[in-house]
Amino acid sequence: MLFSKMFIPTLRENPAEAEAVSHVLMLRAGYVRQLAAGLYINLPLAIMVLDRINVIIREEMKAIGAQEISMPALHPAEIWQKTGRWTEIGDEMFRLKDRGERDMCLGMTHEEIITWLAAMEIRSYRELPQIWYQIQTKFRDEARPKSGILRTREFLMKDSYSFDRNEDGLEENYQKHADAYKRIFERCGLKFYQVDSDPGMMGGATAHEFMALSPAGEDSVALCEKCGYSANTELALSVPIPQPRISDEENWKLEDISTPEKRTVAEVSGFLGLSPLYFIKSLLMIGEKEPFLALVRGDQELHEKKLQRIAGELRPALKEEIKDILGVEAGFIGPVDSKLKKIADISLRTGTYISGANKKGFHKKGIRPDVHFQADWHDIHVAKQGDNCHKCSSSLSIENAIEIGNIFKLGTKYSKPLNAVYLDEKGKEKPLIMGSYGIGPARIAAAAIEQNNDRDGIIWPSGIAPFDVEIIPLDFNDTEVKRITESFYENLKSQGIEVLMDDRDVRPGIKFKDADLIGIPWQIIVGGKSLKEDKVEIKSRRTQNTEKVPVDEAIIKLGSNIKI
Ligand SMILES: Nc1ncnc2c1ncn2[C@@H]1O[C@H](COP(=O)(O)OP(=O)(O)OP(=O)(O)O)[C@@H](O)[C@H]1O
Ligand SMILES: [Mg+2]
Ligand SMILES: [Zn+2]
Repeated sequence: MLFSKMFIPTLRENPAEAEAVSHVLMLRAGYVRQLAAGLYINLPLAIMVLDRINVIIREEMKAIGAQEISMPALHPAEIWQKTGRWTEIGDEMFRLKDRGERDMCLGMTHEEIITWLAAMEIRSYRELPQIWYQIQTKFRDEARPKSGILRTREFLMKDSYSFDRNEDGLEENYQKHADAYKRIFERCGLKFYQVDSDPGMMGGATAHEFMALSPAGEDSVALCEKCGYSANTELALSVPIPQPRISDEENWKLEDISTPEKRTVAEVSGFLGLSPLYFIKSLLMIGEKEPFLALVRGDQELHEKKLQRIAGELRPALKEEIKDILGVEAGFIGPVDSKLKKIADISLRTGTYISGANKKGFHKKGIRPDVHFQADWHDIHVAKQGDNCHKCSSSLSIENAIEIGNIFKLGTKYSKPLNAVYLDEKGKEKPLIMGSYGIGPARIAAAAIEQNNDRDGIIWPSGIAPFDVEIIPLDFNDTEVKRITESFYENLKSQGIEVLMDDRDVRPGIKFKDADLIGIPWQIIVGGKSLKEDKVEIKSRRTQNTEKVPVDEAIIKLGSNIKI
């Protein structure tokens, strides 16, 4: 392609509205333009990147026997009503009515639709297993369409679905997807981890997310380098580092101590000169059925999502509610002599503690869990950097990450309500066992930029760059420069290499800046001066290293770099 003929509207300045690096760079380098919050126009370079990503995805899906189909983005409400998600899903779903006043929605995912199809079409165990997928537009009215291309309100998704006779079949297809996903993300040049994740609104039992590490990520993951344990912090298990116990708390007897106007763990621990480690934070939660106490160690934070998976929908009680329900002010509540149900963090199970005495102005000292109060024990604290791995006891690291894909075992969550059944060998009707697997191609592109950039611009991983090579003639009016440039261009193209040739009549400085900004992995710089020595320069965008090579060796040299 000729630069002069392409639409690559690069910008000199960083756009003010953009926060995430990928957003800034995709605007600046002329890949996208923003239409409205969470809505973007893909310009030619972005389409080239997305095409390459989609080719990789299609190749790897084909390799596991997945078959491509295409489902509408506009859905009738009835199917979503049958699974209950029409009402379960809130404002994230775009809903509308057709001219006949029928409720419709824009598909935010396609479990319902594909299960409807399977219910219509799959009859017998002989037709199983099946994997069907599509690369299709999804619509979600995201609460925070702030991260640019990482989270948009209309986006492409590769979503695939597996149908099996039993759990073993599902396990096999789940594993096939996990393997295919690894190959896809490797080929896209991402640094990523497969982590345990929360099935959330998809339902089902097992789920994994594929996470690209990046400070721009909205998720965080706990990773153990030693044993490979990796999990989204929404469910990551960790053992808070055992702190040296310095006091004589073993000998404390159970007693109320006066702590006037001292409410928070920080205040009371300061007042008593004891580390927060010796405290139980008691938090009143309003659950679906009843209020209950959540207990965590004073130096730990409660993870509400972890608690939710155990206790269902909940929220922290308001100050007035604490007074109403417990008859004592916030700051003085505790587990001893409280009739409420208690869910306590496992890190509290041993030791002797201080917590509220359920009496204004007092705390209770000498509390022994399991002796002075009973509770359900779970891991409900926020896993922190340096906590111990619950499997191997070495140190966990906590990293921000971008979710680039995920895989779910759905089981019969959709097949049952939509009556998607098959006949087994004995002619007995059984529900289809399903899995669901998603990848966001545009999010891959944005995550790749988040992981691969410098202050000059994007550094594309070679697998998904819009072009493999950019040829930069310093002066296209110089006949020898032009001749060599064009011969390189033709030669590379004939080998199936994607080449961009900057044939514009602009200063070399502008060409260099644009080339670094748009981020093509290799540059060939053709200048009159070097040509006098019969040489050209090959520059690696990633290392910024430039190597002078003889003209007739340049193509071979480049070929070995980009592995034709
Ligand atoms: N708003 C979005 N914009 C771009 N890509 C998205 C968006 N939401 C999801 N994706 C992509 O689609 C894939 C599958 O969608 P899924 O519904 O499982 O995501 P999700 O769990 O809602 O993601 P998130 O937690 O980031 O909202 C995600 O892994 C991600 O790559
Ligand atoms: Mg989401
Ligand atoms: Zn470990």
